[in-house]
Amino acid sequence: MSQTMLASAHIPVLVEETIKALDVEPGGRYIDCTLGGGGHTAAILERSSPGGQLLGIDADPEAIKVARARLEAYSGEPLLVNENFVNLQAICYKCDFLPVHGILFDLGLSSLQLNGNGRGFSFQHEAPLDMRLNPNQELTASDIVNTYSETELAHLIRTYGEEGYSRHIARRIVQERPIRTTLQLARVIERVIGSRRSRIHPATKTFQALRIVVNQELEHLESALRQAVKLLGFEGRLVVISYHSLEDRIVKQFMQRESKDCICPPGVPTCVCGHTASLRLINKRVITPSLAEVQINPRSRSARLRASERIITQDEHYQIVERLCSSTEVKANGWRRPTLLKKLRQAFLAV
Ligand SMILES: C[S@@+](CC[C@H](N)C(=O)[O-])C[C@H]1O[C@@H](n2cnc3c(N)ncnc32)[C@H](O)[C@@H]1O
Repeated sequence: MSQTMLASAHIPVLVEETIKALDVEPGGRYIDCTLGGGGHTAAILERSSPGGQLLGIDADPEAIKVARARLEAYSGEPLLVNENFVNLQAICYKCDFLPVHGILFDLGLSSLQLNGNGRGFSFQHEAPLDMRLNPNQELTASDIVNTYSETELAHLIRTYGEEGYSRHIARRIVQERPIRTTLQLARVIERVIGSRRSRIHPATKTFQALRIVVNQELEHLESALRQAVKLLGFEGRLVVISYHSLEDRIVKQFMQRESKDCICPPGVPTCVCGHTASLRLINKRVITPSLAEVQINPRSRSARLRASERIITQDEHYQIVERLCSSTEVKANGWRRPTLLKKLRQAFLAV
């Protein structure tokens, strides 16, 4: 299959909702932290034309290849980087790509990765137990399955898969080792859970847990969200689509915390935290796909979109004014209104 056909194998989720939440405008500067098949990137490029700039990031080198082929037809020459979004800030400094108008995270895996690309993400296709987004990383799912203790396995399957049968599954895995392939592992889990659960495949939660641990998904997400806020210009948008409750909880709690001026525990009479809001929630309720979208693209069914907008904290306000007051230009020429307004605007954009 050609790279372009591969790219179209992944149907992007909540595209119109994403473009609206990012508030994409011609000439804007955007980052897609999860390039995948390039579906959202293509839509951003279309709407930010003419003059739009786009930085696309993906930890999977295959995704970069596939997206590059797909995006050739678009103007704007997106900058595509094979990196983990945990290094978001460093990437932006290196590429001199900041401040930005919008940052998107469409988390999880693309259909290219799930449709049996030999990387072991799917329990429906035979492959070695790998699950690394970045093939240069050392830890694989096989290392975890075949070397972790029963207690460690039970803990991670429970914590990252929210699997009620974690201890039974862990015990059986240890009994059946070595387990080398996806289907072998799926059969072990099927024998534990049997027909006790019918709505989803018995291996779904354990595979999710292994993938999260192999790629440190939750830690990386938390870190990247903190970095993203610092890269957004004034009123820049942060948009995140997540696909399971662990990711969504992190996004929800992060956005809620960052939209509050005080995060002291309830009952504290006066604020001692000194926290000031850096975000404003765009949609108070989570956005989910319509029934029509789920019918066309069943993989969209668990998608949850949250969005917020960068605001200026009081501290940043003071810092900006202080910086301006001590700037040589203002010192030399005094406060002349047009210069001051221009400088203020630039400074706020670059917060
Ligand atoms: C759901 S897909 C994105 C699909 C894309 N929005 C599209 O429309 O084609 C998620 C992508 O994010 C990538 N990814 C997941 N975690 C990542 C991380 N920590 N750093 C960089 N890329 C990551 C995956 O490799 C995958 O290609």
